[in-house]
Amino acid sequence: MLNTDKVRDALRSIPEPELGKNLVELGMIKDIRVDSGKVTLTLALTTLRCPRKKEMVGQIKKVVGEIPGVITVDVQVAELSDEERKRLFPKHPLVGIEKVGQILAVASGKGGVGKTTVAVNIALALAGEGKKVGLLDADVYGPSIPLMLGLSQKPNIENGMLIPVEKFGLKIISFGMLMKEGQAVVWRGPLVARAIKQLLGEVMWGELDYLVVDLPPGTGDPSITIAQSLPKVQVLMVTTPQEAALVDVRRSVELFVKFKREIIGFIENMSYFLANDSSEPIAIFGQGGGDTLSRETGLPLLGAIPIDLEISRAGDSGEPLLVSSAASSAAQIFRDVARKILKRADDKKIC
Ligand SMILES: Nc1ncnc2c1ncn2[C@@H]1O[C@H](COP(=O)(O)OP(=O)(O)OP(=O)(O)O)[C@@H](O)[C@H]1O
Ligand SMILES: [Mg+2]
Repeated sequence: MLNTDKVRDALRSIPEPELGKNLVELGMIKDIRVDSGKVTLTLALTTLRCPRKKEMVGQIKKVVGEIPGVITVDVQVAELSDEERKRLFPKHPLVGIEKVGQILAVASGKGGVGKTTVAVNIALALAGEGKKVGLLDADVYGPSIPLMLGLSQKPNIENGMLIPVEKFGLKIISFGMLMKEGQAVVWRGPLVARAIKQLLGEVMWGELDYLVVDLPPGTGDPSITIAQSLPKVQVLMVTTPQEAALVDVRRSVELFVKFKREIIGFIENMSYFLANDSSEPIAIFGQGGGDTLSRETGLPLLGAIPIDLEISRAGDSGEPLLVSSAASSAAQIFRDVARKILKRADDKKIC
């Protein structure tokens, strides 16, 4: 006979891919009621903004609908309580990022390839798609986001937590905001790890769809610490076309793989130069780097950004490309990459 146990058992077939458990085990299915073939239940998500909400409800309706005797299936959607969320993500003790949907870290093994440029413009492009976006400049060695975004204010503190500064529709925190002017940056190993953990734990981001994190170059402590501290982090790797850059980028890829952090793809920056709109692209820094990495790893090359005077000018002016030249073709490439990232997230989103 149809009863709540039958419904619960059927729902055990729906996995939650990231956590490797099923929805029932995770406590995401609540209030199952069965009344003469009519089934009602509640699906509790970490956030109502979950883009996979519809798909999950569809899956539930299908699975429950196939149980003999079921006539209708009504699925309510609710949010998990703070307590339940903590139980579900026990390794997620950072209250400031509890309501952050996705964390996207922009990384590269190599310095000066354009990580910060990519982080800033992708963050703006995601915001342009209607997402709530935060930007964390985690480059302890040379935080450059305040300069790139023309920010001079310091974050306020409320209830012991830093409140991000807002500009261009982004919520922003940078190590640069927390250092005294002229302070030498001589962070070493354990200090870097402590500073990053502290920063991650002390910012109240509030509800965000994306937190974009600009990582320092290299495979040193900050990258490792961030890779380990953020369970939901996805990595966007920036490379340049030349073979010499690939050695460092490969090492960085290995690091993230070792710590089981998901790499969503590559961006090849400074990919080519167009002397003018009708000219052939000139491969100033060689070519094929992004393609090579993509082939080697099986991960997608999400976009190739040209060398563009506007990009470097924008980087110094405090107005990033997506603000100063939003209609340019380079800005369009950033928007395309952002859309690919969103599409991928919608396809895979766990919540
Ligand atoms: N596609 C581009 N066209 C022209 N200039 C660019 C481009 N991308 C980045 N730049 C410029 O190159 C310099 C380095 O870029 P950026 O600071 O983003 O690199 P980074 O990888 O974050 O560096 P670091 O390793 O020091 O953090 C900046 O002056 C930036 O404006
Ligand atoms: Mg940088």
